[in-house]
Amino acid sequence: MYYPDDVVEEVRSRSDIVDIISGYVKLQKKGSSYFGLCPFHHEKSPSFSVSPNKQMYYCFGCGAGGNVITFLMEYENYSFPEALKVLADRAGIELPKQEMTKEARAQADLKMTLLEINKLAANYFHHQLKQPHGQIGYEYLSKRGLSDDTIRHFGLGYSNKTSDDLYRYLKGKGYGDDILKETGLFTISERGTWDKFWNRVMFPILDTNNRVIGFGGRVMGDGEPKYLNSPETKLFDKSRNLYGLNYARSTREKYFLVCEGYMDVIAMHQAGFTNAVASLGTAFTTQHASLMKRYTSQVILTYDSDDAGVKAALRAIPILKEVGISCKVLNMKPYKDPDEFIKNLGADAFRERIEGAKNSFLFEIDVMKRGYDLEDPEQKTNFYTAVARKLLEFPDALERDNYIQAVSREQFINYQDLKQLVSRTAARLGPAWAESRQTARYEGRESGTGRGAGYVSEPAGSGRGGTRPGGTEASGRMRGSGPGRREKEDGAKQSQRLLLTWLIEDPRLFDKIRGIITPDDFREELYHTVATMVFEGHESGNLSPAGILNHFINDEEQYKEVAALFNASLKDSLGSEEQKKAFSETVMKVRKNSLDEASRTASDIGQLQEIIRAQSALKTLHISLD
Ligand code: GTP
Ligand code: MN
Repeated sequence: MYYPDDVVEEVRSRSDIVDIISGYVKLQKKGSSYFGLCPFHHEKSPSFSVSPNKQMYYCFGCGAGGNVITFLMEYENYSFPEALKVLADRAGIELPKQEMTKEARAQADLKMTLLEINKLAANYFHHQLKQPHGQIGYEYLSKRGLSDDTIRHFGLGYSNKTSDDLYRYLKGKGYGDDILKETGLFTISERGTWDKFWNRVMFPILDTNNRVIGFGGRVMGDGEPKYLNSPETKLFDKSRNLYGLNYARSTREKYFLVCEGYMDVIAMHQAGFTNAVASLGTAFTTQHASLMKRYTSQVILTYDSDDAGVKAALRAIPILKEVGISCKVLNMKPYKDPDEFIKNLGADAFRERIEGAKNSFLFEIDVMKRGYDLEDPEQKTNFYTAVARKLLEFPDALERDNYIQAVSREQFINYQDLKQLVSRTAARLGPAWAESRQTARYEGRESGTGRGAGYVSEPAGSGRGGTRPGGTEASGRMRGSGPGRREKEDGAKQSQRLLLTWLIEDPRLFDKIRGIITPDDFREELYHTVATMVFEGHESGNLSPAGILNHFINDEEQYKEVAALFNASLKDSLGSEEQKKAFSETVMKVRKNSLDEASRTASDIGQLQEIIRAQSALKTLHISLD
């Protein structure tokens, strides 16, 4: 979906951010802004601010920030078009219809119809629970400890014993065989069409927008197969959906609980753990992990405690790590799965297990240990060597040492001995390992966010996703040659950032820099783009930070940086002498750096003379703030 910029801007400018956010967060006016408890991280005192002037929000605690559209995207986990639609409806603006090709239209229509049918089917199954012949399904679910509320919440149902019950129901609604074939709900053969699900309790599978995309059905009691799942259809892609995500996505917990089955998800939600999800009837995939990464960066695996569960966990750990999700493993023993655990020991005991969940690396070591007979000296040595090798997976020396300590504590291995063994193993593995370590090291350093402190207080993290490499910083580094150059660039960058923040905070300052600074003096690419828009906005009399921010919506890094830029708080307003001095020094620095760079790239002598003239003029320049 693509909406033109002016449409987006109209919707945004006609939605008051204070109005919208007040619906979610209790706000209190303080000066020209509103403050409240941040909905994006846990906190006791309010550091979440909403500025009616800028039409932006910003959290000084976690760095989450943006405009009214991104607030809804973050809070409700809406996509951009979804958030836009909600705001447009509220403001009474009709969004333009999207143009589509005939083919795309047909595909979209097909999907819509399939969703319609699935919804009818889910309602139909659910309705059966209250019918005399569906009593058996309702009793099964009740016996498994599910309350009426839970049954309703998850839309559970029952498919009748009659073999073409649903088929006839849907035919009666006017759907033809062609479309019904696409739903995956029927088995069609020469001899006729049968319901795929019959005499089972039914679990509708919802996507993140609460639309029914498929079903699982369980036999009541013993029987094969225990669970029957919808086949993949135009709607249902098993590796891209997680059961329970429609609820888990709005959890306020920092982590997700990941389990194996329907009943586990439901049991956990019923016990208050509404951050539980499951990958269904299929192994955990990278797509599952990426999907989850949109909502969380921590996972606790609550797979079954049997061998299959352990294997599944060992497979999932590296997949999660790869997308940047850190993970722990919960010990369910002596019970098989979360459902049984909670039924027997209750929610409090389960919460204790969550708190005691094991770091995934230590879990892997534990599992590894099971393959060795530690009574046998030779096998014991082999185990230690294997541990040392595995510890070498950590490219960073400091992190590796933390794990050496943890493992030595857990496995009762002398710390110094283990450390030595790790070093010796590294030496024996030789250059191959050292090389892999070098590249990994480099990447590790890239993600650091060591920025100098200026007059602007900057948030430590960057929203819920944690720290990320700064895009523009990396490009600055590539141009740099040697540490001196690098430092200088950072200083220049910092001045540009500071000046931009000042100008946005107090537009009267534009008058003070007239004739001295133009957007071209912002040499950092991102700042140059922003400055151009800020200056233009000022000239035309409608400087709108929230509107400018929209231009960066498709690049998360840039978006965060610009949001921070627009919301950084200056220590005080430009009242004090010290601040006035700082401002004029910053202006000079930005201009000087700009001229210096220009002189490095000047192509002819006339240009160079011009620059030299400007450089000497700068020496006698005085900026008055009074
Ligand atoms: P309950 O016995 O109802 O508590 O289910 P469970 O979740 O404890 O069962 P199990 O650990 O056997 O299965 C976990 C998940 O794997 C289920 O929720 C299903 O999604 C899937 N599954 C289990 N059995 C089958 C099967 O026979 N066929 C298919 N396709 N999937 C199954
Ligand atoms: Mn179970």
